[in-house]
Amino acid sequence: MNKIYNLTLASIIIVYLVVLAGAIVRMTGSGMGCPDWPKCFGYFIPPTERTQLDWIPNFDYNKNQIIIIEDELFFAIDDFRSADSLDIDNWEKYTKHDYSKFNVYHTWIEYINRLIGAIAGISVLILFITSLKYINKKFLLTFLSFLSLVAILFQAWLGKIVVDSNLSANTISIHMIMAIILLFILFSILSIVNKKSNLKDLPRNISVLIILSIIMLSAQIIIGTEVRKFIDIKMELYNYSQKEKWFEEIPSIFYTHRSFSWIIFILNIYIIYMLNKIRLKSIIKYSVNALIFIQIFTGILMYYLNFPFSTQPIHLLLSTIIIGLQFYFLMLYNTKSNEVKI
Ligand code: HEM
Repeated sequence: MNKIYNLTLASIIIVYLVVLAGAIVRMTGSGMGCPDWPKCFGYFIPPTERTQLDWIPNFDYNKNQIIIIEDELFFAIDDFRSADSLDIDNWEKYTKHDYSKFNVYHTWIEYINRLIGAIAGISVLILFITSLKYINKKFLLTFLSFLSLVAILFQAWLGKIVVDSNLSANTISIHMIMAIILLFILFSILSIVNKKSNLKDLPRNISVLIILSIIMLSAQIIIGTEVRKFIDIKMELYNYSQKEKWFEEIPSIFYTHRSFSWIIFILNIYIIYMLNKIRLKSIIKYSVNALIFIQIFTGILMYYLNFPFSTQPIHLLLSTIIIGLQFYFLMLYNTKSNEVKI
């Protein structure tokens, strides 16, 4: 075990925690728990009570701090001390969107999501700094670490766009795709560092099948986010309750999503068969299939049992774990030339 391996593994785990936290944010409808970004209502540590967002006389306000006046958000134009009565000239209306509610649970769920995101950023930054040591010996490693840093910074910026766009469905989908790209980069680093000299490269036909599975999984995830856009509208419409109505008039893309998962499952059974034929022993080959099976099961639960508690975040998280693991497997058995002793 070496430092880069540990740091990469830690970054991967934290990125998965960010994905999970993001999914919980969505399940609980907490996305707009913080109307601004990166601060939350203008604070580094958000308020715990609605009264903290009322205007207060003789109080030191910081620039961009937010208050609510008659159900509208206003932010402080500059640092100033308030007088005995409200002077509206010190405040500007927050026009990025018309969100103005305060719900302590939503605010703190969204805030914890951002905190885990920040920890992921720090972890990837440390990984990049550590990788600089290998810039001459193994440039690819440093380059990929740099790419992961760029990807996570881009992801943080996208987070702001998601908030500014009032959680527009398309930006959320791009956010999801970027998370997968970031995981691919981190798994590539892990495979380079973890490559053992006794691991053989996969025969070409099996690699092609695995690449096909990864492409199909990517398509399935994109289709899944389309299904999710529809469910999102229903969740809003029924105020996160009456789950039995969320599937009413579901577009045909859902049935494509449902059927396509079986094709992916069968393809992966065939991949196991081929791997067994060449006597390749790896726990990952069975894990991918087991997880695809559980993934389909959570989908069935959502459909037939009206979204039992936490099936939504599990369904999302599993999809990123499956595609990440399969990509890692492919890299691990195709990077002989990148073998590196650290
Ligand atoms: C290989 C199998 C599958 C994969 C990789 C997959 C992946 C995904 C992904 C990534 C999403 C978007 C989640 C989000 O953005 O929050 C999604 C949504 C969804 N999927 Fe699947 N899925 C699979 C199989 C199934 C099956 C078999 C069903 C149903 C029988 C199903 C039902 C759903 C539903 C209902 C949604 C919307 C969930 C929500 O609104 O939270 N999925 N899927």
